Amino acid sequence: MERLYIFDTTLRDGEQVPGCQLNTVEKIQVAKQLEALGVDVIEAGFPVSSPGDFNSVVEISKAVTWPTICALTRAVEKDIDVAAEALKFAKRKRIHTGIGTSPSHIKYKFNSTPEEIIERAVAAVKYARKYVDDVEFYAEDAGRTDNEYLARVIDAVTKAGATVCNIPDTTGFRLPNEYEEKIRYLYEHVDAFAAGKSILSTHCHNDLGMATANTVAGVLGGARQVEVTINGIGERAGNTSLEEVAMIFKTHPDLGIETNINTTKIFPTSRMVSSLMNMPVQPNKAVVGRNAFAHSSGFHQVGVLKNASTYEIMDPKDVGIDEASIVLTARSGRAAIKHRLGINGIQVEGDQLDKIYQDFLALADKKKEVTDEDLLVLAGVDRSTDHNVKLDYLQVTTGKGIRPVASIGLQVANEHFEAAASGNGPVDAAIKALKCIIKREMTLKEFTIQAISKGSDDMAKVHQSVEYKGHIYYGFGTNTDIVTASVEAYIDAINKFRN
Ligand code: KIV
Ligand code: ZN
Repeated sequence: MERLYIFDTTLRDGEQVPGCQLNTVEKIQVAKQLEALGVDVIEAGFPVSSPGDFNSVVEISKAVTWPTICALTRAVEKDIDVAAEALKFAKRKRIHTGIGTSPSHIKYKFNSTPEEIIERAVAAVKYARKYVDDVEFYAEDAGRTDNEYLARVIDAVTKAGATVCNIPDTTGFRLPNEYEEKIRYLYEHVDAFAAGKSILSTHCHNDLGMATANTVAGVLGGARQVEVTINGIGERAGNTSLEEVAMIFKTHPDLGIETNINTTKIFPTSRMVSSLMNMPVQPNKAVVGRNAFAHSSGFHQVGVLKNASTYEIMDPKDVGIDEASIVLTARSGRAAIKHRLGINGIQVEGDQLDKIYQDFLALADKKKEVTDEDLLVLAGVDRSTDHNVKLDYLQVTTGKGIRPVASIGLQVANEHFEAAASGNGPVDAAIKALKCIIKREMTLKEFTIQAISKGSDDMAKVHQSVEYKGHIYYGFGTNTDIVTASVEAYIDAINKFRN
């Protein structure tokens, strides 16, 4: 078996999804879970991009022992200096530097020439090697870069000391056979790969739904590292999903590729990332979707009951799906809540557990059965107490043939305010009442409501984006009452306003 290295970029490329940003404490939680999952490399951030990213790379480097911690840079000395500084506590460290190599990047982004790009790439790799022994080079938009020129770039950077060469299909454009051919061409035309001095890495985006297929094709073409994210999250249509790649090589041992992934940790990791990022997993998502192992047709049910392998190519237990799940009701105790959260990758103790438990009891009074999804929402809610604006109460009258009216009580900087307003619908009335108290020039830009599982007693999750002084702020709220969840999401956004 040949070893395939798993490079997880959930905390860098994955975290670029608008509205899904994590704070440092949450990033550390994810990084530790990735370590338990067995990933080889954690891309922890792009340190020069913001103090928050810098700090996350520092703190993740301290918190994690086994995986290599990687920091992204452009082919710019200042970026590399800052990345090296951010990585100073990492036990194993890697700088990931690079530059665009496709004709449009060379011409429009850099106003440069192919030869000058090679010089800049080589200079960046040499500069990064002054700080660390492990330097990865990325050729941005390699998917649309001519293979012959790309091989010259890659040959030059491997001679300059690049230990890994990342070939991103940045726009998700290539077909699997073309991507495989590209990787094979590079393997065959750059001496460093056969000589074992460097390895090729895939980095595929999912714009045309081909990220996983392209990644597997890249491995068949000779890549020995894959860049992936949990649940395939990432900008636009996302990146390649870790769980799909890991399970493809596990279910196809004939391909002769093995990873270090402890697949039984896949499901809890997926749940943790989905919950912390407030980003639902589509029900039919391969490997980790709610329906991935749910057989509903009569034919299938009979087949699976007689012998699971009739219709199942994977055992749900292999990806960490715990079938003996207990149903939570108002009679469940703290220990059951803690246990269920633990199965889903969230460790809670003390005060935090108490608060979740109180919220759980309030929810269990309204819902017959509380699901894992509900619990994860309760655990993911922002529980900090120092918010400037808080909802005290909300009352809404609505129905057919009447104009909805809302009255609201808010605490603003510890002072209580009340207001009432009517609107086109209950949410409109409630937000108008809120705006009578918070008199700022703010506009609701995006508004989505989602039911978490099923049933009319379900919890609603509301995501909103609110524009204020030229910036967009994301807010999130959850409640069995959709109007309250909407107002809470609006307030969550207001609490993030910078002035
Ligand atoms: O998609 C891409 O090209 C990237 C690089 C910055 C590695 O994410
Ligand atoms: Zn990318």
